[in-house]
Amino acid sequence: MSSGHTIVMGVSGGIAAYKAVDVVSRLKKAGCNVYVIMTKSATEFVTPLTFREISGNPVITDMWEEPKTWNVQHIALASRADLFLIVPATANVIGKIAGGIADDMLTTTVMATTAPVVLAPAMNTNMFLNPITQQNLAKLKGIGYHIIEPASGMLACGIEGSGRLPEPAVIVEKIISLLHTRHALSGKRLLVTAAGTREPIDPVRFLGNRSSGKMGYALAQAAAARGAEVILVSGPSSLPTPPGITVKRVETAAEMREAVLAEFDTVDIVIKAAAVADYRPELAAEQKIKKTGDTLTLNLVKNPDILRELGQRKKQQLLIGFAAETEDLMAHAHEKLINKNLDMIVANDVTLPGAGFNIDTNIVKVIHKNGVVEELPQLSKYQVAEIIIDKICAMLTKST
Ligand code: CTP
Repeated sequence: MSSGHTIVMGVSGGIAAYKAVDVVSRLKKAGCNVYVIMTKSATEFVTPLTFREISGNPVITDMWEEPKTWNVQHIALASRADLFLIVPATANVIGKIAGGIADDMLTTTVMATTAPVVLAPAMNTNMFLNPITQQNLAKLKGIGYHIIEPASGMLACGIEGSGRLPEPAVIVEKIISLLHTRHALSGKRLLVTAAGTREPIDPVRFLGNRSSGKMGYALAQAAAARGAEVILVSGPSSLPTPPGITVKRVETAAEMREAVLAEFDTVDIVIKAAAVADYRPELAAEQKIKKTGDTLTLNLVKNPDILRELGQRKKQQLLIGFAAETEDLMAHAHEKLINKNLDMIVANDVTLPGAGFNIDTNIVKVIHKNGVVEELPQLSKYQVAEIIIDKICAMLTKST
C-alpha cells in the first residue's frame, strides 16, 4: 500500500489511453491520490469524465479554460506530485519533453516538477523503433527519467512487435516500488565530491584534469531523489546546480579537503567522485609568469589524500571512492579500497570508449569491502549513479 502519495498522471493520445483508466483505479486502490492531466488528443480516446469519476479529482485538459488559473494549477500540481507518471506516453509527448517544448498543460507541468517522472511509452512498433524516438528516450533516461519498457505483442495497428503498453498491474507495481525507494535515504546526510580540482600556477594558469563533474552531479541528484539531504562539494564545473542540493564550490584540493572535513562528522555517507589533483605547484606565482626562458620548471608538492584521511577518521560513515585507472584496473582499485579503508570502490578504466572523463556514459566495476565484484555494462552516468545509490541503500539496510 502507498497511502497518501500524490501521483500526477498524464494521459496522452494513443489507443492505449483506455488502459490508463485501469492504472488510475489500481493506484487509487493502493491508497494514492491521483490527479489526471489529459492532452487534447487523449480526450478523443477517453472522456475526461471517466478519469474524473475513477480518480475522484478534477481532470485538467486545457491551459486556457475559465477561470484561467493555469499558472497556479500547473505549478501547484507540479510541486504536489510525489511522482509524475505518463500513461500512455506517445512519441509526440516524448519528443516534446525531450526537446523542452511545453505547449500544453501536461508538458508544462512535467517541466515544472522536481518529482521523479515515469514514462510508459506505447505506440506503433516502427514509431517506437524510430531512431528519433529511441534517441529521445535515451536522452530522458540519461537525465533520470524512468522508462517502463513497452511489451511486445499484437498492436492496435495490426502489426506484431514492441510498443504495447505493459499491463496496468505491471505499471502500478513499478510505481509502488519507486515510491518506496523515494524515501530510502530519508533522514540521511550524504556528501558527494565532484569535478576536478585546479591548482594555481600563477593568477591565470592552473594544473587541472579532464573531469567534468557529470558522475558526481548524477550521484548527488540520484541520492536527493531518494530523500537524502545532499551536500555537493564541487570543483569548477559548467553543470547547473541540481535543485534541492546544497552546493559548496571549491577550487583546489586544499579547499576541497577543508569543505569535506567541515561536514564529515555530521554525514552518514561520503562518495568521493572528484578527481583530486595529487600534486600542486609548491608556490603559485603572484604575477603572471613571463616566457623569459626556453624551459620552465615547476616544483610540485603532494596534496593531501582527502579520502585516505576520511578512511582514518571514519566512525559510522559509509565511504565510497572512485578509482580512475588506465592499466591494471582491478589491482589498483582493490589496493585503494584497502588503503583508504573504504566500504566500496567504483573502478573505471578511463581509456575505454564510453567510459571516463567528460562524457555522458560510463563503464564501471563495483568492488565491495568483502571482495565481491560486480561489472556493469555501458550505461548513462545517471543510470550508474542510481545503481550505486541502490547499493548504498542495500548496505545501510544490512547494517541496521
Ligand atoms: N582522492 C582524494 N584525494 C586525493 C586523491 C584522490 O580524496 N588527493 C580520492 C578520489 O576522489 C577517489 C579516490 O581517492 O575517490 C581515488 O582517486 P584516484 O585519482 O583514482 O587515485 P589516487 O589515490 O590519487 O592514486 P593514483 O593517482 O596514484 O592512482
